[in-house]
Amino acid sequence: MSSPMGGSEMPAAGGVVKIAPSILNADFAHLADEVAAAEAAGADWIHVDVMDGHFVPNLTLGPPAVKALRRVTRLPLDVHLMIEAPERFAPAFVDAGADRVTVHQEAGPNLHRVVQGIRELGARPGVSLNPATPLELLDEILPYVDLVLIMTVNPGFGGQHYIPTSTAKIARLARTLRERGLTHVELEVDGGISPATAPEATAAGATVLVAGAAIFNDHGSIAENLAALRRAATR
Ligand code: DX5
Ligand code: ZN
Repeated sequence: MSSPMGGSEMPAAGGVVKIAPSILNADFAHLADEVAAAEAAGADWIHVDVMDGHFVPNLTLGPPAVKALRRVTRLPLDVHLMIEAPERFAPAFVDAGADRVTVHQEAGPNLHRVVQGIRELGARPGVSLNPATPLELLDEILPYVDLVLIMTVNPGFGGQHYIPTSTAKIARLARTLRERGLTHVELEVDGGISPATAPEATAAGATVLVAGAAIFNDHGSIAENLAALRRAATR
């Protein structure tokens, strides 16, 4: 699918895992520069964490920020809505230039409606599960989404530790997607992804790794951090 900037969403070469830096840990005073550095370093998508202070105990940003990001990058904008009643705001994020909009299974009773609405507006819908939510709750929605986002921390904050039991959950979802012939569905993993945890998430079947603190930190440049994550994820 073409982004509003005209960039295209190419599959990662040779089935290599995609890396989606989360801007949550970026320097918001220099967001355009941070995103440009991630793009130059080979990031595949830009992950945008939207929090409403209700679904999660934190507040972040809204459609105007996505609109501003749309002007400064050709990368697909992967918008993760950690908000209640996502049907109220999903259209504004698509309008602002989101290529993908992912909503939480736990966020409301109208999951199928909101997923279909996102697709009708021209973006790719995804569904996310919190760590304690069983995979079985996805049974009916899987044929309607382009992406499943498995939270490997409790959503709300960057820089948390990967929950170890997540790896088995990723592997079970990967098997379900294969068995149901849904191999086009991206299996995105989000939370605590670093060079230490990326190998197990990737080996279990993740196709997209979100990383915030591992990319935007004081230890290395964005390029160095992204390269280290890619090496760890593909070895
Ligand atoms: C957590 C967000 C994540 C998070 C990732 O609520 O959905 O995208 O920012 O950050 P790290 O990689 O620092 O766990
Ligand atoms: Zn996220």
